[in-house]
Amino acid sequence: MRFIFIGPPGVGKGTQAKRICDHFGIVHLSTGDILRDEISNNSSVGQSAKIFIDAGKLVPDDVLLNMMSGRLTQDDCINGYCLDGFPRTIAQAEGLEHILSDLNQSLDAVVSIAADEEELINRLVLRGTTSGRTDDTSEIIRQRLEVYMKQTEPLIAFYEKLNMVKTIDGMGEINDITERILKTVS
Ligand code: AP5
Ligand code: MG
Repeated sequence: MRFIFIGPPGVGKGTQAKRICDHFGIVHLSTGDILRDEISNNSSVGQSAKIFIDAGKLVPDDVLLNMMSGRLTQDDCINGYCLDGFPRTIAQAEGLEHILSDLNQSLDAVVSIAADEEELINRLVLRGTTSGRTDDTSEIIRQRLEVYMKQTEPLIAFYEKLNMVKTIDGMGEINDITERILKTVS
């Protein structure tokens, strides 16, 4: 199975993608986590990404497409994966189409999770007290939400045209949301 998880910051992409990956025995690929690893390793990708992440802005498309075209050809991706936080722009979605057609792969579904803005902000501010994530401050959280609306939300219409979107209510208990996703994609 191959899924994309899309949704605003704090909606639970990471939380839910991990559970869905465990269920299907597939790989969880969070571009946010991969970039944060690059930053802790002080790699050249990490050094350039840090400026964008700390400002709540998107890392440039070519960086993401290079990174993910390499990652998706690795052996552990053969059985399937959940893409969490990628693609995030139309250019990335188009790039992903090329990567997938080169690999002779297709996606099973785009899981679009939604929640109230107030809930998103509350979750991220709460996480910011312990996460150590430099972008979990109220000012940067607002910036990330704005970037999501402008640059990422249009992807839902892009995938709707391909009939691939499954919309999930992301409000409520974590377990219940996982059940909703499994019911929709199984
Ligand atoms: P990324 O790491 O992807 O961050 P994000 O999209 O802003 O979202 P989060 O990871 O904060 O939230 P989430 O939806 O995963 O929710 P989570 O499960 O953690 O990206 C960070 C940055 O990297 C970007 O701003 C950008 O700079 C860069 N980047 C990454 N990908 C990129 C790309 N493709 N192109 C360009 N740049 C890119 O849950 C949030 C919190 O809520 C947690 O504390 C969790 O425990 C809690 N929670 C989850 N579900 C519930 C629930 N049902 N009820 C209560 N609490 C809940
Ligand atoms: Mg995440």
